[in-house]
Amino acid sequence: MARPAPAAVDSIALLGTGTIGASWATHFLARGLAVTAWDPAADADARLRAFIDAAWPTMERLGLADGADPAQVRVVGDPAKAVEGAVFVQENAPEDQALKRELYRRIDPALGADAVLASSSSGLLISTLQEGMRNGARFVVGHPFNPPHLIPLVEVVGGSGTDPEVVAWTLAFYNAHGKRAIRVEREVPGHIANRLQAALLREAFHLLLSGTASAADIDAAVAHGPGLRWAFMGPFLTMHLAGGEAGFRGALGHFGPGLESWWAERGTPRLDADTIDALSRAVDEMLHGHSIAALAAERDSRLLALLAALEGSRPPPEPA
Ligand SMILES: NC(=O)c1ccc[n+]([C@@H]2O[C@H](COP(=O)([O-])OP(=O)(O)OC[C@H]3O[C@@H](n4cnc5c(N)ncnc54)[C@H](O)[C@@H]3O)[C@@H](O)[C@H]2O)c1
Repeated sequence: MARPAPAAVDSIALLGTGTIGASWATHFLARGLAVTAWDPAADADARLRAFIDAAWPTMERLGLADGADPAQVRVVGDPAKAVEGAVFVQENAPEDQALKRELYRRIDPALGADAVLASSSSGLLISTLQEGMRNGARFVVGHPFNPPHLIPLVEVVGGSGTDPEVVAWTLAFYNAHGKRAIRVEREVPGHIANRLQAALLREAFHLLLSGTASAADIDAAVAHGPGLRWAFMGPFLTMHLAGGEAGFRGALGHFGPGLESWWAERGTPRLDADTIDALSRAVDEMLHGHSIAALAAERDSRLLALLAALEGSRPPPEPA
């Protein structure tokens, strides 16, 4: 079996249909692909279908590909059966290295000669996961952002044993099917986006714990300030535009000394029990009793509005 062109793939296999797997299933179904899935939970089939049904009206509002059909999902009773004949497998098993390796050992003999396996893993190294697998050269990380049926980003990382051509094919595959894939050149814990989030969280916690501002005001400083730009441009382009005609280089000349002095006195909070308690009390105070379900629904509806508003607007320049 020769691997088809990325855009020509019309079905995928999914292993694990929890939070991330069910959302991936919804995404690929909405893009018109058929999905074959396996999950060891007894109620996996019903749970997956319930998730897809609940999310489908949102996908209709986002826009469906021709032929998209929520019924094009099939849940099978064996992981090897799920991957049989699949060109692309998205693995979403729990974040446990031994468990994922055991799963890979089970499916390795059933994978096609050109099949690509992408793990959703947030923090495990694909170099370790692929070690000793017959088809390991075609294993990559394809790390989504929750929920993948709404958030376009996927971070693609090859391991030390991954064929570079497979990384390129995987990037093209995601981009051809409605995602915005980026290449992570070097395996690092947390990939890119979670590391950036972690840097911001560290300073947000420090500002709260040092009495600089309330949780509500720190959140507002992001959501009503730089967060608006971050929906369509990252820190490099933002900095370039902060420099006026002098651009990025000029901005660093101007703001560099200030940045360095803030870095030098950045916070280093430890997440011990007392700190977690203090942070959690501050967040409870901010929430005024709003339920998680109501907040999540509000998040998803605003996300949808934002994606619709950005649709068709010119993206920031791509690297040459
Ligand atoms: N939750 C997130 O925000 C998020 C974001 C990005 C990536 N991820 C990654 O996605 C993967 C799955 O995380 P999740 O949050 O969906 O977890 P989850 O606990 O919601 O779902 C895991 C699913 O795997 C099933 N499962 C159990 N044993 C299995 C096995 N041996 N093989 C296959 N499936 C098995 C469970 O029944 C469950 O349905 C992890 O690697 C995680 O790092 C999670």
